[in-house]
Amino acid sequence: MSTFPKPAEDELGELEPDLREVPEPGAVTVIIPTFNESANVRELLHRITESVPSRLPCEVVFVDDSTDDTPQVIASAAQDCPFPVSVIHRDRPDGGLGGAVVEGLRAAGSDWVVVMDADLQHPPSLVPELVATGESTGADLVVASRYTPGGSRAGLAGGYRIAVSRAATWLTKGLFPRSLRGISDPMSGFFAMRRSAVTASALQPLGYKILLELAVRCRPRVIAEVPFVFQDRFAGESKSTAREGWRFLRHLVELRTAAPVARLLVFGLIGLTGFVPNLLGLYALTSAGLHYLPAEILANQLGVAWNFLLLEVLLFRSRRGHRHWLDRSLRFAALANADLVLRIPLIALLVGVWGMAVLPATALALLLTFVLRFAATEALVYSRRRRRR
Ligand code: GDD
Ligand code: MN
Repeated sequence: MSTFPKPAEDELGELEPDLREVPEPGAVTVIIPTFNESANVRELLHRITESVPSRLPCEVVFVDDSTDDTPQVIASAAQDCPFPVSVIHRDRPDGGLGGAVVEGLRAAGSDWVVVMDADLQHPPSLVPELVATGESTGADLVVASRYTPGGSRAGLAGGYRIAVSRAATWLTKGLFPRSLRGISDPMSGFFAMRRSAVTASALQPLGYKILLELAVRCRPRVIAEVPFVFQDRFAGESKSTAREGWRFLRHLVELRTAAPVARLLVFGLIGLTGFVPNLLGLYALTSAGLHYLPAEILANQLGVAWNFLLLEVLLFRSRRGHRHWLDRSLRFAALANADLVLRIPLIALLVGVWGMAVLPATALALLLTFVLRFAATEALVYSRRRRRR
């Protein structure tokens, strides 16, 4: 991290003392993720200088993944700033925008952090108000919202982006009704959070929606909102792409399946869809003249392969790293077939030794082997990888 010189005390002294709302020095760290924003950062620092330090002592941390000269432009513009400015430049953009913000959270030492974009779609003049609202309401999280009275999404370009943004908001609120109660704009990238409410080690950000990540994984107790008008981009282009949309869906799945019970449910649903290729395969093989018993065994492998692919892409996507795919697929297939082989002696045990009727015994055996298979798949195929730093 490179930090540029702090201004002399007397420069700060020129500001009227009664305008300083929150007394402690460095009360807020403004975290700004940047990816090729060289045409924006000078104006951004200028507007922060105009509206923040006179009302709230601040420092600015850029977390940069740029391939252009953004860090150099920041270094030069920082010379005119009456507050500390630093740049953390990352060689690998792990986690994208969200990963960058978490890096900034780790570096911050102040009571409050504010996260905002570098392209001036988020008005810097609102930074002191976000923190002041948090202080006066006792909130841990203060969201700058486009969807609360007084806010607007003026700068959201075009009907397509408006529709996508609205659909994403509804979907997300539907999936996390409790964590997102009190947040009208969970897609917002502009918010203030009390640092004591952030558990950086619990975070596993993936792409743009860092507010969602914080709200769901850190569960701030009290949440407040401040309306804001989403402005037009000052210069350059949005970095959000179709790939970012896909990443967002993966992020939703990861957040929603953080609890084992939710994973068990998804595992079961995916397992159910495996009936389709299984039965289709059985039909094709027996029609081709194969005896039904070898056909059952082969068709079962089709269902296993189908389940494996879906689980890899959806449920265990972030837990694939530590084992080769061939290793994973063989382990998975072994477990799936062991399930089949285990079930018959288990049913025999339930019926023969414990005297259960055949139907409930079969249902119980199905349930038991399913839960066992889930646990074994988690432990032996996708054991939780160490968190990336
Ligand atoms: N470090 C880093 N790494 N910064 C990034 C990356 C990345 O991979 N991708 C984007 N950024 C930075 C950009 O440089 C910019 O400062 C900020 O993140 C937002 O990126 P934009 O490309 O301008 O995003 P947007 O305007 O499409 O989306 C913004 O508004 C949405 C609301 O409609 C973001 O704030 C979204 O989070 C928000 O949902
Ligand atoms: Mn933007």
